Order: sequence, then C-alpha cells, then structure tokens
Amino acid sequence: MALFRGLSGRLLILTIVVVMLVEVAIFVPSVARFRADYLDERVVRAQIASLSVLAAPDGMVSPELQRQLLKRTEALNIVLREKGSSAMILTSEEMPEVSATFDLRRMDAGAMIVDALKRMLSGHGSDVIRVIGEPTMMDAEAIEITLDSAPLRTAMLDYGWRILRLSLIISVITAAMIFLAVRRFVVSPLMRVVENVKAFQENPEDPSRIIRPSSRVGEIADAERALAEMQQDVLTALRERSRLASLGEALAKISHDLRNMLSTGQLMADRLEMSRDPLVGRTLPKLIGSLDRAINLVQRTLTYGAAEEAPPELRQVRLRALAEEVAEGLGLGVEGGPVRCEVAIPERHTVLADPEQLYRVLANLMRNALEAIAASGRPGEIRVRAEETAAAQLIRVSDTGPGLPAKALENLFKPFRGGTRRGSTGLGLAIAQELVRAHGGELKLISSTTGGTEFEIRLPTKPAAAG
Ligand SMILES: Nc1ncnc2c1ncn2[C@@H]1O[C@H](COP(=O)(O)OP(=O)(O)OP(=O)(O)O)[C@@H](O)[C@H]1O
Ligand SMILES: [Mg+2]
Repeated sequence: MALFRGLSGRLLILTIVVVMLVEVAIFVPSVARFRADYLDERVVRAQIASLSVLAAPDGMVSPELQRQLLKRTEALNIVLREKGSSAMILTSEEMPEVSATFDLRRMDAGAMIVDALKRMLSGHGSDVIRVIGEPTMMDAEAIEITLDSAPLRTAMLDYGWRILRLSLIISVITAAMIFLAVRRFVVSPLMRVVENVKAFQENPEDPSRIIRPSSRVGEIADAERALAEMQQDVLTALRERSRLASLGEALAKISHDLRNMLSTGQLMADRLEMSRDPLVGRTLPKLIGSLDRAINLVQRTLTYGAAEEAPPELRQVRLRALAEEVAEGLGLGVEGGPVRCEVAIPERHTVLADPEQLYRVLANLMRNALEAIAASGRPGEIRVRAEETAAAQLIRVSDTGPGLPAKALENLFKPFRGGTRRGSTGLGLAIAQELVRAHGGELKLISSTTGGTEFEIRLPTKPAAAG
C-alpha cells in the first residue's frame, strides 16, 4: 500500500475518480438522449406500420399481419390523429392501462433527463406508456403509440453498463499514463535528488557526490542546480574549515616555540641595558617593548586557542603615542624617506580600547598602506586622524597609494581570500576587523580609488555590553 501514499499512486487514484465523475456527468444527459432516440425510432416504426395498413385495400389487414406489424414496432396500439378525429390503425387484443403520456414534440432537456432517470430507477416491472410523435412520413397531425417501457429500461441499463465499462477502461488507461509520466518526470528525478542528498551527507567532502543537474523538467532542474550550488558551498566551507583547523594546530605549535625564542631575545636585550652606547640607549626600550608585545601575543594565543582572540581589556589609550609607535615600528619615522607618515592627532586625545589590540589593528592598516605605496614605486603619504562624536570614536587611516585591487575588494575582510601580493597571507584585514568587532566597533573601507585608500575604525564610546 506504500504505492498509494506516494505522489504517483495518489495521482493514479485521483485520475480514476475524476474520470469516473466526468463520465457520470456525461452519462446522465446521454442516457436521456438514448431514451429519446429509442422512442423516436418506435414512432418511425409505427409510421412504417401505419403506411402498410393504409396501403392495404380498404385499410384492412389480416389479424396475422396486424400482430406481425405490432411486434416489429414493439407497440401495443398505434393511433393516427387527424384534425378533429383519430383513427386506431393497429391494435392488439390487450388494452392495458396507460401510466404516463410523453409528447416527443414538446420535450425539453430537463424533462427528458428526469423521465429517463425515473424509468431507470422504477424497477423492472412492465409499465405501459403512451408516446405522441410527429408523423414525418405521412399527412397527419400526430401519431400516438402505446408500448411497454420495460424493454426500454433494459436497453437503457444496457447502455449504462456499456458507458460504465468504457469509462472504466478510459480512466484506467489515462491514470496509468499519468502515473507513468509522473514517475518518469517527477518521482524518479526527485528520488535521484533525495539519494544524492543522502550520499552527499555521508561524505560531503567528496566533490564527485555533488549532483549534476540532468532533469528536463524546469522546476526540478532548478532545484538540482540550487542543490548543486549549495553542495559546492558546503564543500568549500568544509575545506576551508579543515585548512583553518590544521593551520590553527600549526599556529599553536609555532607559537609555543616562538615564545621560547622570544624569551631568549628578551633576555639578551635585558643584558644590553648595561651598555653605555647612546644608540643602544635610544633603541633598546623600543626593542624590549616590541619583544614584550610579541611574547604577550604568543602567550595569549596559546592560552585562548589559536582561533580565538582574547577579549579586549579596555583602557584610555593615548592615540597619538600609539600611532607614532606603530609608525616607528614600520620604519616610517625616518625623515626624508619615500613614504611620509603624518599622525594628525592632538597629544592629549585618548580612546577607550585595548592598547595591544588597537596597536595590531593600526599596524595592519598602516603596513598595508605602506606596502601598497611601496609596490607602486612612487613616493606617498600615510595619514592617521581621529575624531570623537557623542556615539563613536573614529580613527581614520588613509594613504595616497594605488587603491585596493579588485580581488581584495571582492574579498574584503575575508581571511585568506583577499591577499594579492606574493607571500601575503590575506589575514591582516580579517584580523583587524575581528579585533575591532570584539570592541563592539566596526572597521570600514571608506574609499578606494587610484588616488588612495581610506579605512575607518569606529569604536563605541562606551564599552559594548558583551565586551
Ligand atoms: N591601503 C591599501 N592600499 C591598497 N591595497 C590594499 C590596502 N590595504 C589592503 N590592500 C589590499 O588588500 C589585500 C588584503 O590585505 P590584508 O592585509 O588582508 O592581507 P595582506 O596584506 O595581503 O596579507 P597579510 O596577511 O600579510 O596582511 C592586500 O593584499 C592588498 O592587495
Ligand atoms: Mg596586510
């Protein structure tokens, strides 16, 4: 019975039912028509019988011939009506009582249907009726016959059964054809999609399991295409994830040993503190600061896991000093270099942020700017500005470089996607965005033209509730 729960099974039954209903709708008027034709024909036969009687000398025929004629007409009496008089043409010995009279000359469709159904439902007993018809072959006003309607009923039932049988055959054939068509065009392709989804689910990383759209039915082909696209996306996402997972593991290992190496560097730098060399005196604090920062970062990465940043520890940070430190770390402090850096921020301006993380955000943005200008081979300038409104603290980093290439624009802030230069990882902007978002803020590309690029860091004035 599972067959009838499916789409094609249900359609099979529905088609049979619908065709049968249509047949009933056709049956009722056609059985009425059948009855009318039947009676019409009896009238015609009666006329022929009358003609042979009228043709006989003085209108008399032998009783034997009379019986024969009535038998052929299937009538009990035949009466011919002229104006004002009527003549019994043929009559049988029996004169049964007439139960109803039907005038075929004045019959509407509704009455015909009612009369036909009435007779069919009224049992098989004999029932004599009178029928009045139009004498088409002779010159008379009307021709009237009495006949037993039992054979009429039998003929109507016969006819009904024939129609029923025929409609059964038609509906079964139609239904079977619809069933097969639905199977072929809908159910099988759907099953194929379902099978494919199951197979894909078992091993979503196998590209050969992505469905190849093949249905010729538009809607199903659309569904197949959409499925194929989705499977492709899932596959890409899974691959990216496993790549990220292995990268994370590698990062954890590297971080671990890097911390040890950096610690050694820190130890060595500490020893240099004894030196009296003025150059050492100037650069050493910065070297130590940078090493501290590196050790701190590595340590935090190890504690929080490679994929997650530590939550920001907010403080009031003097932005100008921080930006200048970044610039210096990038080697931008040197006067007369090809790339100038201008930090247009008042000395006392502060922002509420995690200094370590804000340093990394600025470092990534300014390093990108520096690299872009350097790659263009022309001199240029990087500017850092700040602004504070009631709702947000804004920091803008702009440069006069060549602007972002299309690939970087399309994949802005997506890890591993946007990198365009050789040896670049395409992580810088993604990291910066993640760090700014962790502050409850947003990093945005304001403009990028062949004349320069500008990024905006927007931080909330109050720390976001989630931190
Ligand atoms: N200021 C800029 N001017 C021009 N192009 C830029 C600028 N900033 C970023 N880009 C483009 O965007 C791409 C993505 O930058 P992102 O910092 O995310 O990665 P990356 O610099 O390529 O690699 P890394 O992970 O080492 O930072 C860069 O490769 C570069 O092409
Ligand atoms: Mg970068």
